[in-house]
Amino acid sequence: MIHRMQLGRVPPKPHTTFHDEQGKLLMEHCHTREGFEGPFSILYYRVPPTDENAVEKLAIPGFCPFEPLGEQPLHRRHIKTFDLRLKGDFLDARRVLMFNADVQISMVKPTERSPRFFANGDGDELYFVFKGTGRFETLFGVLPFREHDYVHIPRATPYRIRWDDGAAPEFLVFEGTQFIDIPKEWRNRSGQITMYAPYSHRDFRAPQSLLTYHEAEHGKAPFKLVVKREDVLTVHLHPHFPVEVVGWDGFVYPFAFNIHDYQPKTSTIHLPPTIHLTFAGNNFVVCSFVPRKVDYFQRGDVKAIPCPYGHASVHMDEILFYVAGNFTSRRGIMSGSISLHPAGIPHGPHPGTYEKSVGTDRTSELAVMCDTYKQLRLTTVAHEIEDRDYHLTWVSREGGGVDAPGAR
Ligand SMILES: [Fe+2]
Repeated sequence: MIHRMQLGRVPPKPHTTFHDEQGKLLMEHCHTREGFEGPFSILYYRVPPTDENAVEKLAIPGFCPFEPLGEQPLHRRHIKTFDLRLKGDFLDARRVLMFNADVQISMVKPTERSPRFFANGDGDELYFVFKGTGRFETLFGVLPFREHDYVHIPRATPYRIRWDDGAAPEFLVFEGTQFIDIPKEWRNRSGQITMYAPYSHRDFRAPQSLLTYHEAEHGKAPFKLVVKREDVLTVHLHPHFPVEVVGWDGFVYPFAFNIHDYQPKTSTIHLPPTIHLTFAGNNFVVCSFVPRKVDYFQRGDVKAIPCPYGHASVHMDEILFYVAGNFTSRRGIMSGSISLHPAGIPHGPHPGTYEKSVGTDRTSELAVMCDTYKQLRLTTVAHEIEDRDYHLTWVSREGGGVDAPGAR
């Protein structure tokens, strides 16, 4: 939902006759949101996507269904995703770590390529590419990805993930039950991204080529499309390749945005995390922390404290996924860590880091944050890879590194 796009051929008027090269009438398909009130795209299939001839049940424990942790005492958490060992394709190797009614947060670490496609009927998906390069093969075309991209897949879009040799990917995934979109704060009344937003229309990449069927790549019938709805998977078997269109146009399609294209805002004194806002869902936001100059106020001996102040986020749970940079300000935190700081209790920099931050002028941290209004519940998978002493690591006076702005 960035701007209108067209790929391939479409007729001048919607809902009119439109033929393939042999004169056969093509099947128009309207991919609509919010009933028929919201954004939409119109696609033209060679074979109607409704020609499924069987439906099978499928369960992938840890993904669908996932198991909530029974008891979750309120304290700060550290989930070590680097200890998560997974095997299989991009669905078998997906695990839900945290969830509430608005968002699910998962890791995906595929080791095997799969001919099957997947469509998430529960919500939009926002992948963050932690590692790897490759492409999303989608109904709307082929969308290449590279390290540290966000990749947005609209609800109910069939896709699968391929990767380059030697570049097996790892992803953090946000699934937004209602939607994930560009925040209204960064759009003007015409829908254009504002000039003071932290990115521009030019930073977003859409599919550049349509997906076409190749037997060597996609196999033979029956073609499998796995659909998720209410956290239940069904496999739909098609006698024809179900993800091929001759063209489409509209506002709904997958897109990519690289976090390194995010333009951070800086100030004389510390600005709240709000200024790192990147995407918004229903009752949650996703923010980007990128390498940047930090707060530079100085008046005589009085200087800015770049390290964030301690705070109790009384309305929001907060997670931070640490990607790259110097995280020594948080003991035990490494690239691939997720911290969860729940609403209701205070958090902030570890002892020592607050003082050490005075006088620093840059931070190298790269991290993705998600704030939610509703409490995030852990799954049993997350609990298995949890650092269970993390909430006690503020107690002593031992300090960390000098790249202190990473603590929040
Ligand atoms: Fe915070």
